[in-house]
This record gives sequence, C-alpha cells and structure tokens, in this order.
Amino acid sequence: MDLRHRPRRLRRTPALRRLARETRLHPADLIAPLFVEHGRGVRTPLPSLPGQTRWSPDTVVEEAQRLAGLGVGAVILFGLPAQKDARGTSGFDPAGPVPEALARLAKATPDLVLMADVCLCEYTDHGHCGVLAGGDVDNDATLPLLAAEAVAYARAGAHVVAPSAMMDGQVAAIRGGLDAAGLSTTAVLAYSAKSASAFYGPFRDAAGSTPGKGDRKGYQMDFANRTEALREVLLDVEEGADAVMVKPAGPNLDWIADAADAVDVPVAAYQVSGEYAALHAAADRGWLDLDRAAQETLVAIRRAGARWILTYFAGHAAEALRSGRWDRG
Ligand code: PBG
Repeated sequence: MDLRHRPRRLRRTPALRRLARETRLHPADLIAPLFVEHGRGVRTPLPSLPGQTRWSPDTVVEEAQRLAGLGVGAVILFGLPAQKDARGTSGFDPAGPVPEALARLAKATPDLVLMADVCLCEYTDHGHCGVLAGGDVDNDATLPLLAAEAVAYARAGAHVVAPSAMMDGQVAAIRGGLDAAGLSTTAVLAYSAKSASAFYGPFRDAAGSTPGKGDRKGYQMDFANRTEALREVLLDVEEGADAVMVKPAGPNLDWIADAADAVDVPVAAYQVSGEYAALHAAADRGWLDLDRAAQETLVAIRRAGARWILTYFAGHAAEALRSGRWDRG
C-alpha cells in the first residue's frame, strides 16, 4: 500500500507521541478550591466530594503548603460561616473564616496566589446569591454587599477576588469598591459565563448553600446559550475584569473556546464539584479509571483554550505531573 498520509507515523512510539503532543498541563495553571470554617484543627471530610475536606484557618495553611510544594498555582477559598442572615453580612465580616485564613496564608505561603470567591449564597439564610426583594433577587441592592465582601477579602490578603453571583454590573461595582478602598492592585477574576447547572450539587451540599426556595435561573445563565455566554465575557472585560471564567468547564467547552478567541485576558474554567464527584462515583464502581479520566477531562479543558483551571483534582494532577505519570506517551 502506497499511502502518502499516515498520521499514525507520529503515534508510533512514546517519544514520538510526546513530541507530537499539542496540549500540556502544568501545575502552575491549576487552582485548588478549599472550604474554610471557623475553629481550630478542623479536617472534616466532605462526603459529596471524595478526597476533599473542610478546613479551619490553621489547618488550611497546612493544605496550602502541601499544594504549593506540588507547584499548584493558586487556591480559591470558600467560606462556611457560623451565622447566616438575609443579607449575607457574615460574608464581609473581617473576623470571618475566609479573612482569617487569608491573613494566615499571606504569611505562610508567599509563593501561592490567594483567591477568594465572592458571593452571598454561602452567607444568606435563604441560600440565594443576592438579597431578596418580593421573592426575587434584587440585582442592584446586592452590588454594594458584593463590593464590601471583596474589600474585606482583599484587605485580609487576597490577591484576586472572584465574584460568582452572576449579578449584572458586579465586576464594575467590585472594581469601584476596591479602588475607593485603596485596593487598586487587587485583581478581579470574574465568573463571567456561569450556567444554572445541575453539576453544582455536591458543592451546595458541602457549603450548605442550596437555595431554600426556587432556583438560580433568574441570574445564572441558560446552558443552552452560546452567544450570550460570549456577551457575558465581553461585558466583564469591559467592566474591568483582569481575567474571566467559564463554569462548569466540561459541559461548556465551546464557551471556553469562544472566550479564548475573543479576549486578551486570561480565560479560566472551573471543573465543578459535580464533574469531579461523577468521575469518582463511576470509578468507585469500577466503571472507569479515575486517574486517566481526570487527566483526559483536564487536557480537554486546556485544549479548548482555558489558561487556568479551577479543579478539585489540582493536588492529584500536580502530583501526577510532577512524577511524570501524566506526560508519558
Ligand atoms: C457560589 C458558587 C457556587 C460554585 C462556585 N461558587 C455554587 C453555586 O453557584 O450554586 C460551585 C462550585 C462547584 O460546584 O464546584 N455562587
């Protein structure tokens, strides 16, 4: 057979496959989500997120040091407050678990980028991402609360604040709040295109942030829309976002590709709790190989155009990359 084109020529040996590989992961591009509550010595396993833990401000330092040692680029903190109210005011309490953890991390892990999620849903008693007015989430009344939360986290030591409430104008409100507080060097990573997704289930379990009534479809995006996702990304860049995010990652690879083509700021993607938990559940049943499936999903997210990946596999991936397990042909 005289075949001129034989793509298999470059797949013949591990060394050729390695040379031909178009997409690589690097631990520095990975961002590990961490859950923090008040207290000391806390290491409570999260049942819906196998291998993930609820930390207190002292123990989270140890975990962050471990991740930094593996070369992970950043951590993003989520708070589990002692008290919740209708306006989510514990979110901007300077004595809350996230500010306390940030202050400790700023000293203990100078090489790690510190990010903090900014949203009301973990702090409101009704579980919505904004304040309610007549049963609906009031966009403009929520903005100053998000700005106050961002300022509290930036003051405590966050290098990057990441608003995830999907309120219109949240990036501009936070940028304005930070600048007015003399925090013009704090960056904003906007959860720009975030869909109303079934894949947040395990996170809401972990954070106790399931809305008491209703759903988030009035503010999170319809997962059926592609043009609108790009619009959300462009609006956030316009409002001053230093980086943008697509979420969830795996179900929205086209959103990632569109964003990467359209903007000149870093595009991040969040492989969310349900994506992680689903792989674990299937692997537990012996239906797939967790390590290989995790690698494949992360490479796909990177290949679509994400520069940064938020993933509960961050530590696992960094270890696999460091040992060479994940870059072999
Ligand atoms: C807060 C927030 C959520 C997630 C990140 N930030 C929950 C939600 O929107 O319901 C989900 C992360 C995950 O599922 O891993 N708004």
